[in-house]
Amino acid sequence: MSNLAQIDADSILHPATNADDFARSGSKIIESGKGIYLRDRSGKELIDAVAGLWCVNVGYGREELAQAMGKAALELGYYHTFSGMSNAPQIQLAARLLEKAPKGLSKVFFGSGGSDGNDSLLKIVWYINNIRNKPRKKKIISRWQSYHGTSVATASLTGLPSFHADFDLPLSNILHTESPDFFRYGLADETELQFSLRRAQQLEDLILEQGPDTIAAFIAEPVMGAGGVVPPPEGYFEAIQKVLRRHDILFIVDEVVCGYGRLGKWFGSELYDLQPDMMTTAKALTSGYFPYSASFVSDEIWQLIKQASAKYGNFAHGYTYAGHPIGASVAMANLDIIEKENLVENASAVGKYFHQTLNQRFANDSFVGEVRGIGMIAAVQFLKDKADKLFFDKGTKISAKIAARCYQNGLISRPLPSLDSMAFSPPLICTTRDIDNIVDIFETSVRAVMSEEL
Ligand SMILES: Cc1ncc(COP(=O)(O)O)c(C=O)c1O
Repeated sequence: MSNLAQIDADSILHPATNADDFARSGSKIIESGKGIYLRDRSGKELIDAVAGLWCVNVGYGREELAQAMGKAALELGYYHTFSGMSNAPQIQLAARLLEKAPKGLSKVFFGSGGSDGNDSLLKIVWYINNIRNKPRKKKIISRWQSYHGTSVATASLTGLPSFHADFDLPLSNILHTESPDFFRYGLADETELQFSLRRAQQLEDLILEQGPDTIAAFIAEPVMGAGGVVPPPEGYFEAIQKVLRRHDILFIVDEVVCGYGRLGKWFGSELYDLQPDMMTTAKALTSGYFPYSASFVSDEIWQLIKQASAKYGNFAHGYTYAGHPIGASVAMANLDIIEKENLVENASAVGKYFHQTLNQRFANDSFVGEVRGIGMIAAVQFLKDKADKLFFDKGTKISAKIAARCYQNGLISRPLPSLDSMAFSPPLICTTRDIDNIVDIFETSVRAVMSEEL
């Protein structure tokens, strides 16, 4: 281990890292980035086909973002937004975001990340249902396999068992309905649409069993990200939204990964015709250059918050860094780049090419079950045997092995070990040539590992 890696191992509790393995393997230290490329401390150049954690959509080393950050730091640096205080960058950003946001969303609450964004919305749901005089209507339904964050409340929403085990989660008023993953859970004789209707029925059954007067909200990502890159099966959200409306249940759309162009539209809500009452965004809002989230609420919810102020006084929620002027300035510069460089359209066109290429390369392989995703998000599902839909044994850790080989070969990919899948969410600036390079390295790495494992 290098000196710096040793200090790291001696000092840092790393997020989402196997603490036992880490004590032996140490860290990989990333030093610089330009465009879609990163360089680690050993001088190795890597294509980042994950855009950090699904967020560096405009790529690394963007002068415009550094300039915006520097200017805002010199002008003001920081001032809080409690008690009605404000700053020009957050005001301009809010107006710009509301112009783009799905219809019906009328106010923005700024925070620092996806978890606190979702957390804020949960608190608002509980708060307004007290104001609506529905004190029993407090339970939130999320989905197994979803990812919504790691705070106490949002780890509870997250539908991945490892985020609950031994953390004493989920909270008792957070429930989970079945996953929309058709590949994994569709029945042999079931069409995608039939599967979607079955899932909507299961949601309704859960609501009826609990009592509709106890269910406040349902939360979903348009395309599941960390839970396996799962786009909604045919007819899914149409059927789900009908159930929600029938029982007066708010719809929280978590666009933390999907928002700002990744799916080839500004928001997943636009692509799948979702009508959110509330929406969370973060990550690509600043392309990861500054921790920032924007959570949105409908006008109806805003009116209830106003009523609550008459009753309780202040809306007693907020963070020191809410509406940070540097983050808002970075977000504005980031949106300028997305618009000027037509990155949403690029994500759609290059995304199609990405999926076509992955499908072509692996169509005839018995160890790939499917290629999932849309736009610039994709996952490749590994199987021991496609014909029998046979999964690898748990201990095989196939996606982690392939990711390690990809890294050796100069590519960062994102293994999802519990699903035997490899995820990709490359920066939206990728060209078709970049996609060829990504898929070439991935294919070489996959074939090398599979020849050892099968
Ligand atoms: C869909 C979704 N929601 C929420 C979060 C949590 O965001 P953060 O890690 O910024 O708290 C993530 C993080 O990956 C996410 O993918």
